[in-house]
Amino acid sequence: MPRQSLPPAPPRLVRIAVLRGAPGAARFHLAKTMPTMPAPSPSSPPGAAAQAAVPPLLRQFADRRSGTLSYLVACPVRRVALLLDPVAADAPLYLGVAEEAGWRIEAVLETHRHSDHASAAALLREATGALILAGRDSGLAADRLLDDGEALTLGFLRPRVAHTPGHTRGCLSLALGERWFTGDCLTLGDGGPTDEPDSDPATLYDTVRRVFVPLPDETLLYPGHLRGPRRVGCIGEERGRNPLFSGLSRDEFVARRRAGRLLPDDPGAAPSLRFPLSLSPRTDP
Ligand SMILES: [Fe+2]
Repeated sequence: MPRQSLPPAPPRLVRIAVLRGAPGAARFHLAKTMPTMPAPSPSSPPGAAAQAAVPPLLRQFADRRSGTLSYLVACPVRRVALLLDPVAADAPLYLGVAEEAGWRIEAVLETHRHSDHASAAALLREATGALILAGRDSGLAADRLLDDGEALTLGFLRPRVAHTPGHTRGCLSLALGERWFTGDCLTLGDGGPTDEPDSDPATLYDTVRRVFVPLPDETLLYPGHLRGPRRVGCIGEERGRNPLFSGLSRDEFVARRRAGRLLPDDPGAAPSLRFPLSLSPRTDP
């Protein structure tokens, strides 16, 4: 890919866009800003050191109708973006945000087969030429099927795929430096839902213990679904409040999931995360 000639980048703001589901409400607004490191010079070689120094740019979208959290992740140097778990109704929003930011959407990654919303992947492929990526065991028709441990190239960024089954057999998570996009394997405060036909609570428990529990406390977590008001967490917080991190046994977890309860009870949970997840009617606030 030819290098783009870009002006020196000023310190950037990462914006987290929140989609409103209520008819007539603002489609999204600036919910949070945080400073990031200045982008490196576009002339920097894309070696390992340069990659490590490049912080990704990020937009988070919350679709309150389904409780889905979607993400645009972009390389600040190459201005190319990856879109995770887009919702069909919001395709124009993603395209508008990417255009405003000057990003080209290169790929759409489905972390798993979704039963609670229609995907925007096909719409976005048609609009942008983006490739559709999904896990090898996802059962999805994708342009490229991904395996555990596979590294992707997104400009200077090298996100890495992790197979994280349990919510569905083919679930993926994506690791990018200290950030993890967990799909529906992990919500903030609990494991992901286990209401899909190929969900398996025991597998989900094992995945969380194997993949997420060993991560450093400062690892940032970006879940695929709303559960309560928070949209970003970290491993250190999960150690203090997520039963899967703090002593709940596999058998206890499985028994509680078979009883149809999320753990712990969270009165602030999005309606769509109360069982049955996939059959909840849309309830705009
Ligand atoms: Fe899901």
